[in-house]
Amino acid sequence: MYIIRLLLIQFLLHFDCVHGVYSRQNQSNFLKDILEKCEPLVEPVDNISATIDVQIDLGIQAIGVLKEREQTLKTTIFLIIQWVDPDLTWTPNDNYRLSYELPNNMIWTPSLFIVNAVVEEVVIEKENGVSVLLHNGSLITTTFRGIETSCVVNTAKFPFDVQVCEIIIARAGGNINLIASPNINTELLKENNEWGLLSINFKYVLIRGERISRYEGVVVKIKLKRKALFHVLKSIVPSVLLSFINGFVFLLPPASGERMTMSISSFLSYAIYVTYIYESLPANSDSVAYFPVYLCWMMVQSGMIIIATLVSLKLYHQEQNDSQAPVLMSASSSKVAPSENPSCDPENVKTRGSVERKKFDKICFNVSLGLTCIATIWLFSLLFA
Ligand SMILES: *[C@@H]1O[C@H](CO)[C@@H](O)[C@H](O)[C@H]1NC(C)=O
Ligand SMILES: *[C@@H]1O[C@H](CO)[C@@H](O)[C@H](O)[C@H]1NC(C)=O
Ligand SMILES: *[C@@H]1O[C@H](CO)[C@@H](O)[C@H](O)[C@H]1NC(C)=O
Repeated sequence: MYIIRLLLIQFLLHFDCVHGVYSRQNQSNFLKDILEKCEPLVEPVDNISATIDVQIDLGIQAIGVLKEREQTLKTTIFLIIQWVDPDLTWTPNDNYRLSYELPNNMIWTPSLFIVNAVVEEVVIEKENGVSVLLHNGSLITTTFRGIETSCVVNTAKFPFDVQVCEIIIARAGGNINLIASPNINTELLKENNEWGLLSINFKYVLIRGERISRYEGVVVKIKLKRKALFHVLKSIVPSVLLSFINGFVFLLPPASGERMTMSISSFLSYAIYVTYIYESLPANSDSVAYFPVYLCWMMVQSGMIIIATLVSLKLYHQEQNDSQAPVLMSASSSKVAPSENPSCDPENVKTRGSVERKKFDKICFNVSLGLTCIATIWLFSLLFA
C-alpha cells in the first residue's frame, strides 16, 4: 500500500507537483490574487525606460502552395513566445502548481504582427489565446497558424528556379526587445511535393519610420528549390525533341507529300506548348523565363521552316514541269541538234534543277539544325548558370 502511494505521489509530482492540501477554492483564490496583479494594458516593467525581452522560437510545420501568379507563399508556422513578468511569481508547493494557464485578454501580451502577410495577421491572439505562466514569472504563449505572405517570385530559370521567400515578424509598439532563437525548428516539417527546402534562416531588420520610430523585426528567409523532374519530363524533353525533329522535314522526299503536314504539326505543337507553359508562369514581365523564350524562338523557326518547305516544294514542282517541258520541246524541235545546245538537254535540265533544290534543302536542314543546337545550348547554359 505504501509503495503504491509512493508511486502515486511520484506520478503526481512528476506531472504537476500536486499533492497534499489542494482545493478548488484555494486554487481559485490564488489565481484571483495573481490576476489582480495583472493589467492587460500596462507593460510589466518598473522603469519607464526599461525594455522587455521577448524571446521568439520559430518553427515551420508545412510549406504550402507558392502561387507564382499572385506572388504569395502559404506556410504553417508555430511561434513560441516568452517574456517575463517579475511580479507574477510564487513558490510552487503542495498547494500551488508549477504553472497556470491564463487567458491572453487578462494579461499584458507583446503585440507582434507579420509584416508581409497578405491578410492582416496578429501573432498573439488576444481574445481566444492562452499563455502559460510559470512560477518564476515567465509567460509563454504558443501559436500555430497558417499564413500567406507575399513573396517575389523570379521564374527566369524555370523549372530549375530557386525562390527566396520571407516571413517578417515585427513588434507593433512598446519597449520590446525581440530576441529570436537562431535555430528554426523544422522537425515537424512535411515534405512539399513541388518545392524542396534548401535552407531556412533568420536575421534582424530595422523597420524605420521616417521621423518617429524604428522597430526591430525578425526576417525568416525560406529558400526553396523547385522539384524539376516533373517539368523536365513534361515540358523540356518533349519540346527539345520537337525542336530537333523540326529540321528533319527537309530530309523527307518531296514526292511523299508529307512535308507540309509535318512542318505544320510541329508548328502547332509549339503553339500549344507555349500556351501551356505560360499558364503556369506569373503574368508579369519583370522576369521572363528563358524556357518560354526558347519555345517562342522555336516557334518562329518552325514558321520559317514552313516557308522554306513551301519554297522547296515550289522548286520541286517547277522541276517536275521543267523536266516534262523540254521533253515536249525536244520532240517538237527535233531539227535542232541537241548536242549543240547542252542546256536544252532534258537530262541536263532535270539534273540541274534537282541539284539546286537538293542544295536548298540541305542548306535549310543544316541551318535549322544549327540554329536549334545554338538555341538549345543557350537555354541550358542559362538554366544551369
Ligand atoms: C490555500 O490553502 C493553504 C493551506 O490551507 C493556505 O495556507 C493558503 O493561504 C490558501 N491560499 C489561498 C489563496 O487561499
Ligand atoms: C531606469 O533605467 C535606467 C536605464 O536602465 C537607469 O539608469 C535608471 O536608474 C532606472 N531607474 C530606476 C528608478 O530604476
Ligand atoms: C523560468 O523557468 C523556465 C523553465 O524552468 C525557464 O525556461 C525560464 O528561463 C525561467 N525564467 C526566469 C525568468 O528565470
